Amino acid sequence: MTAQFPIRRLRRMRMTPILRDMVRETALDVADLIAPVFVCPGERVRREIPSMPGVFNLSIDQAVEECRVLVGLGIRAVLLFGIPEQKDDQGSGAWLEHGIVQRAIRAIRDALGDTIVLIADTCLCEYTSHGHCGVVGEGGKILNDPSIELIARTALSQARAGADIVAPSDMFDGRVGAIRRALDGAGFTDTPIMSYAVKFASAFYGPFRDAAQGAPKFGDRKSHQMDPANAREALEEARLDAAEGADILIVKPALTQLDTIAAVRRELPHPIAAYHVSGEYAMLKAAARNGWIDEAAAVHETTLAIKRAGADLIITYFAAALAKQLMK
Ligand code: PBG
Repeated sequence: MTAQFPIRRLRRMRMTPILRDMVRETALDVADLIAPVFVCPGERVRREIPSMPGVFNLSIDQAVEECRVLVGLGIRAVLLFGIPEQKDDQGSGAWLEHGIVQRAIRAIRDALGDTIVLIADTCLCEYTSHGHCGVVGEGGKILNDPSIELIARTALSQARAGADIVAPSDMFDGRVGAIRRALDGAGFTDTPIMSYAVKFASAFYGPFRDAAQGAPKFGDRKSHQMDPANAREALEEARLDAAEGADILIVKPALTQLDTIAAVRRELPHPIAAYHVSGEYAMLKAAARNGWIDEAAAVHETTLAIKRAGADLIITYFAAALAKQLMK
């Protein structure tokens, strides 16, 4: 039985900043943050994404500088996306030895060594002319098994370029297993897979598709990404990826799926990464720019909620801003 008023007064422990600090259950740590970086062709390119103020398409030289700044702020991992020079219907730019992400990985490694963990997003949608994440068959059907072969090939080329972790974001069945086999077969037994295990077909990826120029030219992603209505299926997705050898499980988006993060946390021992996605970023930025919310406080509270739900790692466009807040 819980003691009741006037014996129990929860406000006692809220009376001073130090008391509040002492009983705080969740805290953000800069070591938990992963910053997405969008790499584009060219030199000295630093192009702001209109729907994501403060986020840029960066040429490789600029991406190196961005990573240097992030490391300086205490951030230890970046998630790399590539915008290729050319696209084709297979998405072959994704697995070229000298593809945009592969070159970026080598350049960042040359400049920063092992002070930064380089995670390569493994997908074809930025590289295909149709903007889909895999092979398109008759009638516009997205084909599973041929796609996972190409995705495994992409992951392997990223590992060869020096990626520390590969992160398949497609949601095709069996791709984690296919990637694990490809990596192991080439001797990359120690390269972890951070799989987008529970990725929903969400309205909140809109700004990202501007940033990465990977919007589907027809149709949508609902035949592979999950229906946001389904919680039991989310757990099965997480279990399957775990069984295929995923080392870290991503839940995405974050705020509309806090219950999913909590459920995966209860169900599996794996580290969980939550992706606070582009639309979630854009909403906060837009409200802050209108003077409707206090940006720093809202960003902190939002990220804390994601952590409290059970995320170990948080992929967020606010990584640098949070790191600066946490230094104070
Ligand atoms: C696909 C991919 C997407 C995101 C990350 N990887 C877009 C999609 O699935 O349509 C979304 C990230 C965000 O919205 O911030 N490679």
